[in-house]
Amino acid sequence: MTQTPQSEPTDYKPVSFSQTVLTELMIPAYSNFGGKIHGGILLSLMDKVAYVCAAKHAGNYCVTASIDTVNFLEPVEVGELVSLMASINYVGNTSLVVGIRVISENVKTNTIKHTNTCYFTMVAKDEKNVTVQVPGLILENHDQVRRFIEAKSRKDIRRSYNKELEQVSIPEKDEQCMALLAGERCKLA
Ligand SMILES: CC(C)(COP(=O)(O)OP(=O)(O)OC[C@H]1O[C@@H](n2cnc3c(N)ncnc32)[C@H](O)[C@@H]1OP(=O)(O)O)[C@@H](O)C(=O)NCCC(=O)NCCS
Repeated sequence: MTQTPQSEPTDYKPVSFSQTVLTELMIPAYSNFGGKIHGGILLSLMDKVAYVCAAKHAGNYCVTASIDTVNFLEPVEVGELVSLMASINYVGNTSLVVGIRVISENVKTNTIKHTNTCYFTMVAKDEKNVTVQVPGLILENHDQVRRFIEAKSRKDIRRSYNKELEQVSIPEKDEQCMALLAGERCKLA
């Protein structure tokens, strides 16, 4: 339930006000059987930095509403320093989008790799768990303007994607379903 009507925000904050960097050493306890860092460890760190950035901008408690596609571009090794750079890309009425760039640094070889970029949508809530309006965003340079437009486009695309997904109808009989799945690597038991 949203109590605040969709209206012009009364206050604005610059992107730089809430920009946050979180750096963490990748210890052996974070690794999987293959010796690389678990994807879930990185997701948890992303959620943490997204919260800090969002709560700072909102001046309120925030919850994670959704996470846009997370692609792991490179594995992260034990002993590397992972840094997550978060900034507000977009604000709606009660929601905001935090863009996070993750890099991993090998301090011995002085090499840095970009492991992923992702976008968290967070929603601001008050102490009664009611959604509240977030401050507007002051865009300070062209990159911030570009990120705002890209985030708005992702939101619009997601809306039409969800509408299209609702149109998909699944036949009632398995045999009819299998006709749609011709060429796929599955068969009925
Ligand atoms: C996310 C949540 C606040 C949305 O509540 P709701 O009653 O559906 O709120 P509304 O429909 O009024 O939407 C509020 C805002 O959230 C956005 N939103 C809601 N669901 C969303 C989703 N899945 N993805 C992106 N944005 C979403 C809406 O677009 C709206 O944005 P706006 O105010 O900027 O226009 C609610 O579902 C919730 O509290 N979920 C649990 C969140 C949580 O606990 N996260 C931690 C996981 S352990």
